[in-house]
Amino acid sequence: METTENRQTIFSGIQPTGNLTLGNYLGALKNMSSLQSAYDCIYCVVDMHSITVTQEPSTLRKKTYDLLALYLATGLDPTRSIIFVQSHVSAHAELTWVLNCLTYMGEASRMTQYKEKSKQHADNINVGLFDYPVLMASDILLYNTALVPIGQDQKQHLELARTLAQRFNAKYSPTFIVPEPYIAKVGGKIMSLANPTKKMSKSDVNENASIYLTDDADIIVRKVKRAVTDSDSTIRHSASKAGISNLIVIYSLSSGKSIKEVEKQFEGSNYGIFKQAVADSVIAKLSPIQQEQKRLLQDKTYLDSVLKEGAIKAETLARRTLAKVYRKVGLIPRQF
Ligand code: TYM
Repeated sequence: METTENRQTIFSGIQPTGNLTLGNYLGALKNMSSLQSAYDCIYCVVDMHSITVTQEPSTLRKKTYDLLALYLATGLDPTRSIIFVQSHVSAHAELTWVLNCLTYMGEASRMTQYKEKSKQHADNINVGLFDYPVLMASDILLYNTALVPIGQDQKQHLELARTLAQRFNAKYSPTFIVPEPYIAKVGGKIMSLANPTKKMSKSDVNENASIYLTDDADIIVRKVKRAVTDSDSTIRHSASKAGISNLIVIYSLSSGKSIKEVEKQFEGSNYGIFKQAVADSVIAKLSPIQQEQKRLLQDKTYLDSVLKEGAIKAETLARRTLAKVYRKVGLIPRQF
């Protein structure tokens, strides 16, 4: 077995805001959990990203614990991985400042998510929203991260992190590993149930568009049954059948069967039967996670101990990188 010394580092994070969807689970969380056996993993609840849009403070606090408990309930293991909250390690904000000074206004303005969120939150287009991808780059670069498990929608942000790493390395000297995205071929973009040409998103106002990780069995059945499909009746994965293809992907990931196996299993079947099977497999996947999350949320002392231990470990690694960066850009070391 490989030793820790030659294992690569994985970093990923999720915002503790909105209602997390099946897209977040299948696109990111599920992979974050399975990668733990082969990599040194660092998983962060990115609360500072969340305040780039208006948050009710008590809700943000509650959702931060909810997400931590969800991390643990999906199998992220604090004895194997570093699990922590972003605001507990101030180096994330500090490295952001240095990287800000290497990021061009033009490249930050081109970020699709910034443009979309500026439309969604037209009354609050703040500098933090603009700077969001630079904070994300700092998250990643502080830990010598080699691979970043994310959904397709975060690819452009990861590209910026790569650009900034390369730019810093070229301007000063080799410092950062240039990280690669880890985007699952199947599940990297789970689509909306109401409009399968659009991404399933926690900020979608149509509740029927997404399966939330908190949805109970009845709601899941109802939402899957209503999912938009087509007038054909064959259960086949194809570019011209976006709705059914999305359900096939969801079933494939929830049941552990390949797309080919799913198509074979439902050959000659109809959409009604298939949709029931999709709902059942999602329920079978989510309900044990929901129960475990509920149980963990009752043990605040344990959750706080996980956060403390995670922050201490992350802080040590992050400080080391930040000290190196400060030195290379010419900031003198502090004397206390
Ligand atoms: P966030 O919180 O919006 O989403 C968390 C993760 O879920 C993925 N995702 C999806 N995957 C497949 N299909 C979907 N429909 C879908 N919707 C969301 C996202 O791609 C993401 O991986 N900026 C990040 C959080 C972040 C981060 C980081 C990630 C901050 N720092 C450092 C990695 C590394 C975000 O807002 O994700």
